Amino acid sequence: MLQKLASFAGVQGPLVTIVMDGYGLAKSETGSAIAAARKPTLDRLFANYPNISLRAHGTAVGMPSDEDMGNSEVGHNAIGAGQVYSQGAALVADAIASGAIWAGEAWQQIVAGAKSGTLHFIGLFSDGNVHSHIDHLKAMVARAKQEGVKTVRVHALLDGRDVPETSALDYTVPFEAFLQELSTDGFDARIASGGGRMNITMDRYDANWSMVEKGWHTHVLGEGDQFASATEAVNALRERFPGTIDQDLPPFVVARDGKPVGTIEDGDAVVLFNFRGDRSIEITRAFEELAFDKFDRVRAPRVTYAGMLQYDGDLKLPQRFLVNPPAITDTSGEWFSKSGVAQFACSETQKFGHVTYFWNGNRSGKFDGETYQEVPSDVVPFEQRPWMKSAEIADAMIAALQSGKYKTLRCNFANGDMVGHTGNFRAATMAVEAVDLALARLLPVIDAMGGIALITADHGNADEMYELDKKTKLPAQNKDGSFKAKTAHTLNPVPLVLYDNVSGGKLGLKALAGAGLSNIAATTANLLGFEKHAKWDESLLEIK
Ligand code: 3PG
Ligand code: CO
Repeated sequence: MLQKLASFAGVQGPLVTIVMDGYGLAKSETGSAIAAARKPTLDRLFANYPNISLRAHGTAVGMPSDEDMGNSEVGHNAIGAGQVYSQGAALVADAIASGAIWAGEAWQQIVAGAKSGTLHFIGLFSDGNVHSHIDHLKAMVARAKQEGVKTVRVHALLDGRDVPETSALDYTVPFEAFLQELSTDGFDARIASGGGRMNITMDRYDANWSMVEKGWHTHVLGEGDQFASATEAVNALRERFPGTIDQDLPPFVVARDGKPVGTIEDGDAVVLFNFRGDRSIEITRAFEELAFDKFDRVRAPRVTYAGMLQYDGDLKLPQRFLVNPPAITDTSGEWFSKSGVAQFACSETQKFGHVTYFWNGNRSGKFDGETYQEVPSDVVPFEQRPWMKSAEIADAMIAALQSGKYKTLRCNFANGDMVGHTGNFRAATMAVEAVDLALARLLPVIDAMGGIALITADHGNADEMYELDKKTKLPAQNKDGSFKAKTAHTLNPVPLVLYDNVSGGKLGLKALAGAGLSNIAATTANLLGFEKHAKWDESLLEIK
C-alpha cells in the first residue's frame, strides 16, 4: 500500500486522467490542426487552469535519442509506470551493437531452423523507430549470411505513417541494392512480398482481422499481384492507385517466371522484426497458435518463429524472442490496486490497449479493482469519421463517474492521433473539435462529482500536419504548390492541465525542469492523497 500524504488528504471525488492522443504543443500555428480548430473548452482550460508542458519524446520516454519522436507505446508506458525505461528501440539497438542478440538462444535457434530452409523477416520497413528500424533488419540479414544461412526473404510492410507519407522508395531502392550486393557466395536474399501497413498484417487490438488474413495470403501463401521487385511494385501500385499513400497501398508479391520467390514453408524460420507489440500480436498468433480460429489460414507452415521482443508479458507472446523487453514493474495501476483504489479505464478499440495494456507495462491482464471498457471503433479510414468514438467514450466515462464506483478513471481520445496520421488537415481540425465537445460534456460531470481531472497527451501529431522543410523550417511544398502532408508524430511537448474546481486554489502544478510524461503517476498519487512510490519520478503537484 502507498503511504498517506501528510500535506493533502486527497480529492474527495474521483480523479480523472484524460489522454488526448496526438495533441502536442506546436511552436508555430502554421500547419497546426489544433490551432485551426474551434475549441472553446480547451481554450478555457488553458486560460483558466494551472497548466505546464511535458516532454513526450526522445530520452524522456526511453527512446534512443532526442531525435526520436514519441509514440503511444512509450508515452502510455511512461504515464502508467511513472518511470522511464529503455524501450524496445533502444534495447534492440544496444543488443545488436554489443552482439548480445547473436549470442542469445533465440537467434541461434532461428539460424539453426533456417539452415535447411529459408529465413523470413516480416516487419515495418522504415527507420521510424516506432515499431521497428530498418537498420536492425540489415544487421540481421548480414549476420544470417555470416552464420551460414543460404536464403533470406523479406516481407516489407510499407510505412508512410511514422515516416513521410510517400517515402517507400527511399527504403526499397537502397535496400534491394543492399540485398543484391550481399547475394554472393551462394547467399540469396530478396524482398518477397509486402504492402501498406494499414492495408495488411499490422492490425491491432482485434480491430480488423481481415487485414491480417490478407497479410497471411500475401507473405505465407504468396497470393496476389506479382512484380519483379518491391521497387517495381511500389511504382506500379502508385500509378494504379493515384493519391494512395504508402500506408494504404495494396499487397504485392515478388515473383520470378510467375512463381512467388518467397512463400513460407514447413521447415523455414520466421522473425517478426517489429519490437513494438500492439500491431505484432495478431500475426504472431496466426503463426504460433495451433487452434487458431480468427481466419482460415489454408496452410499453417511449421516454422521456427521469433519476435524481436516479447510482445505480451502475460500471454507470453511470442514464446521465442530475440531481445528481452523492458521489465516494467511497480506501475501506478499495480500500486493503486494494492492501495485499494478502484480504477476504470476506457477507450475505443484503436487505443483501448493503450490505456490498459501499455498503461500497465505491456500486460494484457488486469490488477484487482480495475474495470475496463472498450468502445468498438469504426472500421473506416478515419478522415471519413474524424469524430471517431469521442461521444461514446464520453458517454461511458460519464456513466462510470456517475456510478460512484471508481476513484480513478482514465480514458484516451484517439482523434488527434488517428486522424492526424491520415495527413488530412481539415479532418484533423474536426478531430480536435470532437475532443473539445467531449470535454465540454465530461468536465461538468467531474465537477458535479467533486472530482479533479488531469488533461494531457501521449505525444504530438495533429499539432503539425505539414512536413517542414529541413532548411527553411517552413512547410514543404509539393510540385503543385500544395503543402506536403505530414502523417507522423511530432517532437513537440504535450500539455498537462490541472482541472480543479474543488480545492479552492490550494493545488497547482510545478514547472519542474525537464518534466515529462513519467511525472504524471506521482502527481496522480498525490492528488489521491498518497505519497508516490519510491521508484516513480517526482510529482508535479504543488500543494499551497
Ligand atoms: C501506429 O501504430 O498507428 C503508429 O505507428 C504509431 O501511432 P501510435 O504510437 O499513436 O499508436
Ligand atoms: Co500515432
